[in-house]
Amino acid sequence: MSSLIRPLVRALAPYVPGEQPASPGLIKLNTNENPYPPSPKVLRAVRAATDERLRLYPNPTSRRLRERLAALHGCTPEHVFVGNGSDECLALAVRAFVEPAAGRGGRRGTDRRTLVQYFTPSYSLYPVLTDIHGAVRHPVPLADGFALPDVRALARQGRWRADAALTIITTPNAPGGRSYTTAELDAICRRQRGVVLLDEAYVDFAREHAMALALAHPHVLVARTFSKAYSLCFQRVGYLVGNPELIAALDAIRDSYNVNGLGQIAAEATLDDLPYYQRNFRRIIATRERMSDGLRSLGFEVFPSETNFVLVRPPRFAARTWLERLRDRKILVRWFDSPDLKPYLRITVGTDEQTDALLSAARHILRVRASGRTTRGRR
Ligand SMILES: Cc1ncc(COP(=O)(O)O)c(C=O)c1O
Repeated sequence: MSSLIRPLVRALAPYVPGEQPASPGLIKLNTNENPYPPSPKVLRAVRAATDERLRLYPNPTSRRLRERLAALHGCTPEHVFVGNGSDECLALAVRAFVEPAAGRGGRRGTDRRTLVQYFTPSYSLYPVLTDIHGAVRHPVPLADGFALPDVRALARQGRWRADAALTIITTPNAPGGRSYTTAELDAICRRQRGVVLLDEAYVDFAREHAMALALAHPHVLVARTFSKAYSLCFQRVGYLVGNPELIAALDAIRDSYNVNGLGQIAAEATLDDLPYYQRNFRRIIATRERMSDGLRSLGFEVFPSETNFVLVRPPRFAARTWLERLRDRKILVRWFDSPDLKPYLRITVGTDEQTDALLSAARHILRVRASGRTTRGRR
């Protein structure tokens, strides 16, 4: 049977999403979903659209949503591409701007047209998309504390490619949580000769965003999503903003009806109630800081975050043991089985009650009384 499947696909290590448990009653802090529901306006709009119209195809270009997003970001609808989640935007960017390596002559990794460059650690989907396309991964380690490295120095050593066909930068970084200033991103973008995609999936929880770069530079795209900040994972809507020529290239290769109708309606209604979401951002940021302080006081190393999650190095037991012990207490967090991330857990910011439950579970696992003493008398 396996001979029927392309060798590239047989060899592929697919992306592993976080667990979506079938059983209710678990506290889900493992996939960076928003703990607050969509705005009542969004729920009403989706319910109102759930009628006999479901038999019709949706608008093929998400036209109205593109217009609304263009107005939001101060550009034209031709600067906006809407996708089935930002994951689809990323996948299409790889397909549109990068050549598969097979048959490109030259030594693997030397042909600029085949290179997908990204920092590590960052979103683990990037290497998978690269592999699926038969392109060449070019991972570049971040500096300490997930800071951006000096790419000019790395380029001199041949470790950074200013000519890579596609460079993806997660900003703020996931899973580190650190954000980058527009000025430092601009400095990198200006050096690159291929396309640069700034993946701003978590930017609503950060102090700064870099949308201006997508409108200033013809080779820069910014990716956003309705999933995280706008409580809409279920509907799968993401988008890119950038130069109309790049956007047209993505339109040329997407599925005809790539964004489902209810998703388009939900996203448009989201834009009708931005103050509702901005209130939620403020709550999530406040809870993130409280959770970080609480975990630090229990001995966790907590990286400063400008997202809706924190990366932590837990005390006393291995991160994987913590994963299991928290799960025993019905709390799901994320652990990545990769050499650079093994010692860490990524914990999504939940509601205040969920955060209390997390801190209480952590205290139990450490056998710490509310007083801060361990029940075994040492700590
Ligand atoms: C950095 C980053 N980019 C993009 C995505 C994809 O989001 P979606 O496809 O739901 O828009 C995620 C989801 O986890 C993410 O962490």
